[in-house]
Order: sequence, then structure tokens, then C-alpha cells
Amino acid sequence: MTVPAAAPLPCPLLLAVCWVVAAATAAGAKVLPSPSSLNYSLTHICTLNWTWNPPENISSSCNLEYCSDIIINGVPEDRREWSKSRFRVTDAHLNEEMRLRVRSECKNDNSSEPSPWVETSLPPKGIPGTAAVDLGCVWHNLEYMACTWHRGENASSDTNYTLSYWFDGLEDPKNCSNSSVDQGIFECIFNLTFPKERRTYPAISILIRGDSEEVRPVCASKNPTTLVKPATPRQLTLSKTNDRIDVKWSESETFPKSCLHYEVKCCNGDLDTGQIIASEMNSVSIAGIDANSKYTFRVRAKPKWECYNSHLQSDWSEEKSIGEKRDSTIYFVLIITIPLIVAVSTIILLVYLKRLKILILPPIPDPREILKRMFGEQNEDSQSSAKDDPMNAFDRLIIEEEIHSLILTETSESTNPEKENR
Ligand SMILES: *[C@@H]1O[C@H](CO)[C@@H](O)[C@H](O)[C@H]1NC(C)=O
Ligand SMILES: *[C@@H]1O[C@H](CO)[C@@H](O)[C@H](O)[C@H]1NC(C)=O
Ligand SMILES: *[C@@H]1O[C@H](CO)[C@@H](O)[C@H](O)[C@H]1NC(C)=O
Ligand SMILES: *[C@@H]1O[C@H](CO)[C@@H](O)[C@H](O)[C@H]1NC(C)=O
Ligand SMILES: *[C@@H]1O[C@H](CO)[C@@H](O)[C@H](O)[C@H]1NC(C)=O
Ligand SMILES: *[C@@H]1O[C@H](CO)[C@@H](O)[C@H](O)[C@H]1NC(C)=O
Ligand SMILES: *[C@@H]1O[C@H](CO)[C@@H](O)[C@H](O)[C@H]1NC(C)=O
Ligand SMILES: *[C@@H]1O[C@H](CO)[C@@H](O)[C@H](O)[C@H]1NC(C)=O
Ligand SMILES: *[C@@H]1O[C@H](CO)[C@@H](O)[C@H](O)[C@H]1NC(C)=O
Repeated sequence: MTVPAAAPLPCPLLLAVCWVVAAATAAGAKVLPSPSSLNYSLTHICTLNWTWNPPENISSSCNLEYCSDIIINGVPEDRREWSKSRFRVTDAHLNEEMRLRVRSECKNDNSSEPSPWVETSLPPKGIPGTAAVDLGCVWHNLEYMACTWHRGENASSDTNYTLSYWFDGLEDPKNCSNSSVDQGIFECIFNLTFPKERRTYPAISILIRGDSEEVRPVCASKNPTTLVKPATPRQLTLSKTNDRIDVKWSESETFPKSCLHYEVKCCNGDLDTGQIIASEMNSVSIAGIDANSKYTFRVRAKPKWECYNSHLQSDWSEEKSIGEKRDSTIYFVLIITIPLIVAVSTIILLVYLKRLKILILPPIPDPREILKRMFGEQNEDSQSSAKDDPMNAFDRLIIEEEIHSLILTETSESTNPEKENR
């Protein structure tokens, strides 16, 4: 592990300036000397150990304490701490400029002024805007951590990131190897398990680096208990006895007993409007059911507040149904086929009726035609043939009918005249 060197210049300079200012303003009161040799070291991946040496010439009557504060991107975080030890451990950010300042104070003593601050900074490396952003992690089923992030806006599109992690109990940081990229979302999955009886977990330090020096690294600290997401309940089984339904599902193998509770979505008919039943166990019994109804169930698991500080719940399980109600597929088939049959038979009937109409009711001859025939050139002809004999007239009728049906078939081929008819 390499220890980055601090910028050594500003410290003595600042110290000198502060001394002058403090001495001028505080007139009478004795100003304490500052701590010296403020420096830091990066331990593991994302932990900073800020160290300093005690000031010289402190009187033995002074109850010496060190006051330290963190400044990020020039803004004091107001996370002041007082301690007698000569170091302070903080999380590293790496993608922001981080400074630590320390001064000496004599507790319960007004005769001396606190020393001027000394500070040292940890400047970020790489190009601004290249660090991974939107890091989010979910601890699945107490088995594995899945972290996702996006590329920084100034990072080139072929930037590859690698995730390393460390927590108290792990000797060395580990690199996450199971990584993927999908539509701009980077993901890496690593195993994370603890003994089952364990209820408190160390913070997980996560470092995301690029594959070149230009890509700014970023650190994050994740509290696993807030990221717990149980697995989807499996093996949902339903059994029916008289007026009750028993719903069961398999118990989690990774969670301690009584650290999960469940929600069962039920029941009669549409699941979307169904009610939700809470259960502390891996089963639930529903009484007073309607024997002729179909019941549908889904289950999901939620971590208990007593065990985990997480509000992530599992996905809904697969859907299971029980009950005598018409099978939904038959129902569906009926809904589709009945109107279809009705429609088809109506069409057939209509077509058939038209034909029947022609047979039963021969078309009424056009009066104009008759008049034409009566007074036209073929006046005599038609008159004589009409009067000649009834048999002849009948033949003509049949011929006429044939012509008509011919016209009918012709017009049905071209749609326009048909429309005009209607
Ligand atoms: C900080 O400590 C490192 C070694 O841990 C050393 O190389 C470096 O010079 C120190 N910086 C200052 C300003 O003392
Ligand atoms: C920080 O550094 C100091 C001095 O080297 C050391 O005594 C202390 O144990 C370190 N703290 C941690 C948490 O590493
Ligand atoms: C500490 O006191 C000694 C003797 O009193 C003096 O020589 C030395 O300059 C003092 N050092 C500082 C940093 O004030
Ligand atoms: C310190 O100052 C407070 C008021 O600011 C005063 O009441 C107290 O007596 C002082 N103590 C000493 C030791 O001077
Ligand atoms: C990306 O780079 C531009 C130009 O160098 C800079 O102004 C901008 O702040 C960068 N984006 C981020 C998120 O830092
Ligand atoms: C990122 O990784 C892919 C595949 O591993 C590789 O083809 C690509 O060159 C890498 N990008 C850079 C900038 O190295
Ligand atoms: C993790 O990856 C870094 C480079 O990304 C490499 O320097 C380091 O040796 C790797 N650590 C392990 C334990 O493989
Ligand atoms: C990598 O992750 C996938 C899930 O995304 C998992 O199925 C697979 O077992 C993992 N591989 C290893 C070696 O852990
Ligand atoms: C994670 O654990 C699973 C089984 O618990 C194992 O198959 C897999 O290889 C592990 N993956 C890694 C990267 O250790």
C-alpha cells in the first residue's frame, strides 16, 4: 500500500500567519502552541488515519485535548471531535478535496487560548467528473452484495471501473470480479456472508477506480443492515379444508428465525384489488372462504426492524390459485368464441336470407321498364307475347330472374353500386 504524501508547503506558512494574528488579537491570554507534523495515511482502501505530534512547552497544569474538524471542498463539516489521542480516523472521499485541521486546547482553563489551527489536505486525483456516480448497493438475502453505478459525465465512454471492498474482519481489500455493464449501468456482485447468529455488521468500504490515472476514484461507506433485501419466498403451497385455506411457503435458510415477517396478497378474484394479510410466520390460514370462489395468493418477505434497519422488501412470489371457479382459460375461450360464433352465424344467415328472398319474392319489375315496353318500339311484341299464353310469361319471368341474379353477382363484385343500393 502506498501512502500519498501530503502537501508540505502550506502548513508552516499557515502556522506562521496564524501565530501572528492570534498573538495580536488575544493580547493578554496565553495562546497555546499548535500540534505539529500533521499527516495522514490511507489504510485499507477508504480509511484515513490523520496523525499529529503534541505541541511543545505545554504546562503541566494544562489538561491538553486536541480539537479536530473536517473540511470538504472548502466547507467545514462541523464534525468536531475532542480527544487526547494523537490521531483521528475518518472515511476518505477521494473524489473531493478533504482537509483536516487540528488545534490544541486546555480543557477547563480560561487562562490560555486554543492554539491556531494546523491543517493538511488530501487533494483528489484525476479529472473532475470522471468518478463513478449514483453508487447504490443492495445486500441480497444476507448472501451477496450487488452494487450499481453510472459512469461520470466527463469519463470517456470506454472507461472501465473496478470495485474493491473492505470491512473490519477482512485482512486485505478484495477486488470484485463478477462485474457487468448493461445500458450504461455498471454492476458488480460479491459474496458477503457473516455467521448466522451475528446481528451487527461492520461498515463496508467500497472503492471504485477507473482503469487509468485520469479517472477519479471514489469511496463510499455502506452500512449493510440498511441494505438487507430478503429473497423472494419460494414453494408457495395452498391447501383447502372445508371453509379455510392454508397458505405455506418455505422458510429462509439465511435469515435467523423471527427476523423476517411476511405479507400475503390475496384473495378472491383480481389480485390487484386484493387485500394484504400480515404474517409473522411462514404460513397463514384464511377462514370463512366462499367454497365456489377461486382464491389467488402471492407472498413477499420483509426484514424486521428489530433485526435490520432496512425497508427493502423481497419481490412478490409467483402466483398460486385454488378454488372451483370456472377455469380462467375456459372463461377466456368462452368470452372470445361466443360473440365470434354469433357474428359468423349472423353473416351466414344474412347472406342466406338474401338468397332466400330472391327465391321466395321474385324481384318486382321496374315500372319504367314496363312502361317502356308498353309504349316503346317493341310495344306490340311485348303486348302480344304477354297476352299469348301464361306459360310464355312464366318463362320470361325465370329468364328475368336469372338476369337479375346475374346483375346481383356482378354488383357484389364491385362494391360501389352495392353501396348505392343501400
Ligand atoms: C507524511 O508521512 C509520510 C510517511 O507516512 C511521509 O513520507 C511524508 O513526508 C509525511 N508528510 C509530511 C508533510 O510530513
Ligand atoms: C493511526 O495511526 C496511529 C499512529 O501511527 C496509530 O497509533 C493508530 O493505531 C492508527 N489508528 C488506526 C485506526 O489505524
Ligand atoms: C520551549 O521552551 C524552551 C525553554 O523554555 C524554549 O527554549 C523553546 O524555544 C520553547 N519552544 C517553543 C516552541 O516555544
Ligand atoms: C473562567 O471564566 C469564567 C467566565 O467566563 C469564570 O466564571 C471562571 O471563574 C473562570 N475560571 C478561571 C479559572 O479563571
Ligand atoms: C466536466 O468537465 C467540465 C470541463 O472540464 C467541467 O466544467 C465540469 O464541471 C466537469 N463535470 C463535473 C461533474 O465535474
Ligand atoms: C474496457 O474493457 C473492455 C473489455 O474488457 C476493453 O475492450 C476496453 O478496451 C476497455 N477500455 C479501456 C479504456 O481500457
Ligand atoms: C485489485 O486490483 C488492483 C488494480 O485494480 C490491483 O492493483 C490489486 O493488486 C488487486 N488486488 C487483488 C487482491 O487482486
Ligand atoms: C456472478 O453473478 C451472477 C448473478 O448476476 C451469478 O449467477 C453468478 O453465480 C456469479 N458468479 C460468481 C462466480 O459468483
Ligand atoms: C460466492 O458464493 C457462491 C456460493 O455460496 C459460490 O458458488 C461462488 O463461487 C462465490 N463467488 C465468489 C466470487 O467467491
